Amino acid sequence: MEIKGDHVLITGGCGEIGLGIANAFLVQGMRVTLADLNIAPGEALDAVHEQMSLTELDLADADAGAARLNPLAQSPDAPDVLINGVGWTPKTSSEGIPWTTWEMPMEHFSRVAAVNLTAVLQCTSIFIPPMLARRHGRIINIATLAARIGGAVAPMHHVSGKAGVLGLAKVVARELGGTGLTINAINPGRIDTQMIKDVPDEVDKAIAPRIPVGRLGLPADVAKVCLFLASDLADDLTGTTIEVIGGLYVGP
Ligand SMILES: NC(=O)c1ccc[n+]([C@@H]2O[C@H](COP(=O)([O-])OP(=O)(O)OC[C@H]3O[C@@H](n4cnc5c(N)ncnc54)[C@H](O)[C@@H]3O)[C@@H](O)[C@H]2O)c1
Repeated sequence: MEIKGDHVLITGGCGEIGLGIANAFLVQGMRVTLADLNIAPGEALDAVHEQMSLTELDLADADAGAARLNPLAQSPDAPDVLINGVGWTPKTSSEGIPWTTWEMPMEHFSRVAAVNLTAVLQCTSIFIPPMLARRHGRIINIATLAARIGGAVAPMHHVSGKAGVLGLAKVVARELGGTGLTINAINPGRIDTQMIKDVPDEVDKAIAPRIPVGRLGLPADVAKVCLFLASDLADDLTGTTIEVIGGLYVGP
């Protein structure tokens, strides 16, 4: 397996899945930059890996994002692989009750969409030009199984933004045709992280027996698919979505 280039940028990279992905690329000898609102969880990895760097920024703030990321895109150090991993899933209103779609305040929808969709669009747009100049580059959007099927714990603002990044990958894949760049998406299912520990027990009890591989996914499972999509093994894949769901929802 060969990965062209030596620098990976992971947005939302200090989350549990992001750190798993970072680790996998560091093991391959790549340099890794993690861009996140909260860089504290990345500091332990940063302390032991010279090839790591952390960028603290709010990707929901498009102006701040442009100010921090444009100089990186214009530098010789622009990333060869962009992983759009940023995600935010507030599930409830301030009273702790889930909103229906029709009750959700527009400003709340817009705040979530700014993270889950607009930030992905912005990062993708900022980093494609330097990739085009080099005639290589890999972009990977981390969406969610819920973007395809919905679900009991998947509110509209989250699902619609994540479905948007799947659509974005398909449109951009066509636009990038013949350039040497590819863009794909990953739909994680139930990955063993805090995000799913926040889900009510009865949801877990209903889903767990239906996962044919017999266990929850791990951040490392998502990371392996990122390595694959970033490598020459996936030269022929673009505009596609790989589901890391342990076989959930296969037929009887
Ligand atoms: N954990 C799961 O089971 C699961 C399932 C499906 C999809 N996903 C997706 O995988 C990705 C990673 O999930 P995770 O479980 O590691 O979650 P996580 O919450 O640990 O990671 C998300 C990261 O995004 C960062 N972030 C949020 N808003 C930001 C902003 N405005 N600017 C910059 N950074 C911001 C957070 O600080 C966090 O580090 C997310 O996109 C999530 O939607 C996770």
